[in-house]
Amino acid sequence: MTQKIAVLPGDGIGLEVTAAAVKVLERLRADFGLKIELESAPVGGTAYTAHGHPLPESTLKLAKQADAVLLGAVGGPQYDELPRELRPEKALLGLRAELKLFANLRPAILYPQLASASSLKPELVAGLDILIVRELTGDIYFGEPRGVRTLANGERQGFNTMLYAEHEIERVARVAFDAARKRSKKLCSVEKANVLETSGLWREVVVRVAKDYADVELSHMYVDNAAMQLVRAPKQFDVIVTGNIFGDILSDEAAMLTGSIGMLPSASLDAANKGMYEPIHGSAPDIAGKGVANPLATILSVAMMLRYTLNAAVLADKIEKAVATVLDQGLRTGDIYTPGTKKVGTVEMGNAVVAALVK
Ligand code: IPM
Ligand code: MG
Repeated sequence: MTQKIAVLPGDGIGLEVTAAAVKVLERLRADFGLKIELESAPVGGTAYTAHGHPLPESTLKLAKQADAVLLGAVGGPQYDELPRELRPEKALLGLRAELKLFANLRPAILYPQLASASSLKPELVAGLDILIVRELTGDIYFGEPRGVRTLANGERQGFNTMLYAEHEIERVARVAFDAARKRSKKLCSVEKANVLETSGLWREVVVRVAKDYADVELSHMYVDNAAMQLVRAPKQFDVIVTGNIFGDILSDEAAMLTGSIGMLPSASLDAANKGMYEPIHGSAPDIAGKGVANPLATILSVAMMLRYTLNAAVLADKIEKAVATVLDQGLRTGDIYTPGTKKVGTVEMGNAVVAALVK
């Protein structure tokens, strides 16, 4: 059966990194028997410019029809003045909500070849392999009411609402427990239960779900402490489960432990493991169009797609091996460059991965 992949390059470096990842998919189709069909559509600022909306109906329809979505990145300073509803970020949030992608998996893995690129001491991060499971369709990101209102004294006040229903907590907790079960059987739930009612309920539900996972060791940590522990002793963590806003922040922090946000892929999954796959870095307007962006996070996102949605774990392994090979060859984009290695651009790095794929 041929599976359909919607390719949404988006804005900024999204265009360059997706082009490199598509070459990897095409090579797998040509030489490794992967049965896929690719169809592209605009999203984000590019879509706003062409169609007047960051998530045009036709793009949403394609994403819904497809078996999996590959997304580059959205956003750029030229769109900052647009009304919130028309900003590129809205497309991303719209796709997450419309496709019901509630479970966001963000692995932070330090490739041994890049230990010296981390801002932390090599001994603190050597062998680092953390999985952050971030809830993606709830919390203060989507909670109503929200807005800016004018008080009786004429002063304006901004407000957002942190919301979590039990079923939302339970389903993401199960994804995290299942993931922990396949790894080192340790799960840390991160919230702010000492202050927030929402977090108190979060903890209660996670403890309840834990009864079905007696083999997984559950711990709880407040988010401020978790932020500190991630830079103090990151290897104490294996799988972390947390809400949308805390996960947004902690996953950027975890990314930096690995040397560069340019290395980290992500998967956003629905209840049936249909997913959207994207690098966790953004559109990086400062380097867009220069051909210097690191395509490895997007290429590794394709590996996650093969593993989680397309049931082709063998090919996922081959991609991950090919990435290790190019790092062994000493190839580095600017973000992971250290003296003594060879600096290459996006296209060269992507082509090297394609060439390193072996049967
Ligand atoms: C992310 C990004 C998005 C988020 C933005 C671009 C809306 O930071 O995927 O982490 O906040 O979720
Ligand atoms: Mg973020």
